[in-house]
Amino acid sequence: MSFTPIALIIGGGSNVGIHVARKLLKEGYHVALGSRNPDNDALRKNGLFPVSVDGTNSASIKKAFQQVRTNLGEPSIVVYNVGQHFQPPSTNDPLSVSSEDFAKSGELELGIFVSAQEALASFRSIKHSTPKVFISTGNLLPFLKEAPVLFMTLASQKATMATLMDYANRAYATEGIRFHYATLVGPDGGLPNLSPSAEVGFFNSGPAHAEAYWTLISAETAKNWDYRFTYDGKEFESK
Ligand SMILES: NC(=O)c1ccc[n+]([C@@H]2O[C@H](COP(=O)([O-])OP(=O)(O)OC[C@H]3O[C@@H](n4cnc5c(N)ncnc54)[C@H](OP(=O)(O)O)[C@@H]3O)[C@@H](O)[C@H]2O)c1
Repeated sequence: MSFTPIALIIGGGSNVGIHVARKLLKEGYHVALGSRNPDNDALRKNGLFPVSVDGTNSASIKKAFQQVRTNLGEPSIVVYNVGQHFQPPSTNDPLSVSSEDFAKSGELELGIFVSAQEALASFRSIKHSTPKVFISTGNLLPFLKEAPVLFMTLASQKATMATLMDYANRAYATEGIRFHYATLVGPDGGLPNLSPSAEVGFFNSGPAHAEAYWTLISAETAKNWDYRFTYDGKEFESK
């Protein structure tokens, strides 16, 4: 019997999510694309399985995995693509973020953990030798020495994400299971172009993410947990 692998993307918007989904479809995957308010008809028309999921809510994440398991099967690829910036009222005063917003940011961090836990359970249950890979969409914030202080909550989310990917990648490597923190960088390895009108940069990075994520999934030898790539989707190599 032929085997069709399954992917679940949590946080499926018009940039990273949809491009990664299309790439996986092209590579023969059944793809479930999750967001809080998916356009069910449009996604189905494009061959995708829509899932309603809030990536900051543990119960909702568990329900989404269950829905995918019931309707498609166990996912062997999981992409966590949710990030949320809570702007402090005063840009040079990070502790002016309300405690309510800081708690919401923490819920997203818990969401990454629960998604990784659920993914591990799925990966372990798949007997086929298909790649089992969890990819979280990162940025450079956890690695920057002097990031603008207004990004404190987003930096905290990404730092948690990076830590989880590093530890899980080491812990489950012997089972052939990979966890990556994947980051788009500019040509010099620094921040990508953050201008919304840039020809290539942060806001139209979907095709580069799709290429890079497929490289991670299809690599015969696992790439590093901290994976950086440039605008063409190729691995960043420092000169
Ligand atoms: N390193 C880089 O340069 C770089 C570049 C681009 C993006 N990123 C990262 O990529 C991620 C997403 O960016 P993007 O460009 O793909 O954004 P996007 O195209 O705007 O997509 C984000 C999607 O996520 C969904 N979403 C938002 N909150 C959610 C939640 N709580 N639960 C589930 N889905 C949610 C939204 O749909 P609903 O409103 O229906 O939920 C939205 O469609 C972020 O983590 C960002 O930091 C990094």
